[in-house]
Amino acid sequence: MAVLTYRPQIFDAPDLKRAREIIMTPEPDISTDERWERETPYMTAIAQAHLMPGPGDTVVDYGCGIGRLSKTLIERSGCNVLGVDISASMRAMAIDYVGSPNFQALSPEAIAEAVAGGLRVDGAMAIWVIQHVLDPRIVVDLLATSLKPEATLFVVNTLTRCVPTVEKFWARDSYDVRALLKGRLKETSIGTLDPKWAGRPAAEYAFWALYRTT
Ligand SMILES: C[S@@+](CC[C@H](N)C(=O)[O-])C[C@H]1O[C@@H](n2cnc3c(N)ncnc32)[C@H](O)[C@@H]1O
Repeated sequence: MAVLTYRPQIFDAPDLKRAREIIMTPEPDISTDERWERETPYMTAIAQAHLMPGPGDTVVDYGCGIGRLSKTLIERSGCNVLGVDISASMRAMAIDYVGSPNFQALSPEAIAEAVAGGLRVDGAMAIWVIQHVLDPRIVVDLLATSLKPEATLFVVNTLTRCVPTVEKFWARDSYDVRALLKGRLKETSIGTLDPKWAGRPAAEYAFWALYRTT
């Protein structure tokens, strides 16, 4: 099998417009702006209903992008969010976009160090990101370790992997993200996204799920 080269630079955005297009890719029947407007309150409602964060609680938003969901979750619940993103430009834009003292942006290395040092959080979400990471085993293990006992992880992910590479643009590898999550945490809910809010293509190629530590 040909060796592929991981290309996370695909997530480096020069400005807010491009960042939004990377985060909410336009689909045949729905634009970036429409996806953003429709999907954001829908995802936030699921996150809020199941993570149930309150003021003083801390939630990890892994692969936060510019903080689309961090922002709304903070506004609705008053919680603290640690946004994690591999892209320095996304992290920088997230600080401005979220615009809250309750938000911090961290690199994957920084959150890994904090968790290794004992950080434990009240909830986590990983929305449209695990499909893109180089090694999902490392991210699933990090998120599972980061959670306090009986805390919840909310995941939205494509059914198949979608890894940015130099040679093939988006490549599919053999990792089964849902199986990895189920192997490390207890799956408490699984479903498909509502096309009314997420758009028909996203509803067909993705799942949402909730996981708990035991
Ligand atoms: C499709 S966007 C989703 C952003 C955000 N979760 C949302 O729904 O608005 C994927 C994000 O994951 C980030 N990302 C990709 N690989 C990552 C990794 N290995 N670790 C952390 N973030 C990553 C990208 O930089 C990008 O901002």
